[in-house]
Amino acid sequence: MTGVRVPCVIVLAGLYQAGAAHRLAGRRMGGTRLPGVQGGTEGDEAAAPGRRATPVEVGIRARPGGTATNRLDPARSCAVHGPWNMGRAMSSLPELAVLFPNEPYFLGNTMGVMGEPLRHLYMAAAVATLQDLDRAVRVLEIGSWIGFSTLTWAQALDERVPHKGSILCVDPWASYWSPAEIQAGGVMATMDFMARSDLSYNLFRHNLTFAPPGVRIDHVRGRSEDVLPYFADGAFDLVFIDGDHRYAAVANELREADRLLADGGLLCGDDLEHQAPASACAALDPAIHYRQDPATGVRYHPGVTRAVAEALGPVSAYEGFFVMRKLGGGYVPVDLSGRTASIPRHFPPALKASIRSRFG
Ligand SMILES: C[S@@+](CC[C@H](N)C(=O)[O-])C[C@H]1O[C@@H](n2cnc3c(N)ncnc32)[C@H](O)[C@@H]1O
Repeated sequence: MTGVRVPCVIVLAGLYQAGAAHRLAGRRMGGTRLPGVQGGTEGDEAAAPGRRATPVEVGIRARPGGTATNRLDPARSCAVHGPWNMGRAMSSLPELAVLFPNEPYFLGNTMGVMGEPLRHLYMAAAVATLQDLDRAVRVLEIGSWIGFSTLTWAQALDERVPHKGSILCVDPWASYWSPAEIQAGGVMATMDFMARSDLSYNLFRHNLTFAPPGVRIDHVRGRSEDVLPYFADGAFDLVFIDGDHRYAAVANELREADRLLADGGLLCGDDLEHQAPASACAALDPAIHYRQDPATGVRYHPGVTRAVAEALGPVSAYEGFFVMRKLGGGYVPVDLSGRTASIPRHFPPALKASIRSRFG
């Protein structure tokens, strides 16, 4: 099917105040479109003007802001002490609320902002394709970490679909790395520490207090393989897979997502940097999260590449974010190119600036 492509307007973050869009002078990026899709196109995906919605029952509400007298400078604390010290310094939810009373906190771009940030614009654009649903959109997020992607879904549900929606997050917030990966240090070792100290879980809960109040957010603390079997068939309109990236976990989540998705819903996931035919993926190591191909230098997640190839074949993907629509028992690509997107409000200022400069 041919789709009507609209000229892309990147509406910049911070332009939305109390639900009303204010475009700043000179920031309208007419003629710039979200870069194109890998894969085919799906029906008429033209963006519609935002419609305001009837709020659904509120889950976690935004906390009233306040002023802390003993506030630390998070950037300096991180730079000087690293997240190890931050873990000891702010492991409880009340402590986080005192340290960061007015905003979510993501520990800089490495520990809180996972993957390519541009993916979040496509995530919001994907939500907008569900605007014709006559009910609140039900999102299942597998793997939430400290809530960066959860807040993106929440803002998109708040602003881009008429009946808003709900998000159910499933994550054990527990260690899941192998001893060798932890030993190697770097991001995996830091994530491991954050999970063991409950810092990741408490940051997740703290950060979600800044979600739009009209979007319900619940979470289940457990591994997808243990939790998902309890959910009913067709219970979700969008399933986002971003948990354990090893093959067995992703393959199982894709199977479960197929059962859990309503017809017309979106099957999405993160970290598909590389696609290959299933036959070429069989040799990919199922036990590792992440690798850099020594020949090409490409960094990718072999478990995601292989599981997606086997379950879905080639998929529509944007900067590593893949999305397919379930239709009549099969899956069709989703064309997001040319759709509008806004930089999420919770992006740290440096990240907003870097995205603006890429589209400026
Ligand atoms: C890459 S992080 C998620 C990042 C998050 N979606 C974001 O973009 O901000 C992966 C998350 O998956 C979680 N996880 C690991 N194993 C899991 C499992 N078996 N089921 C569900 N989540 C899992 C980890 O605890 C971690 O929080």
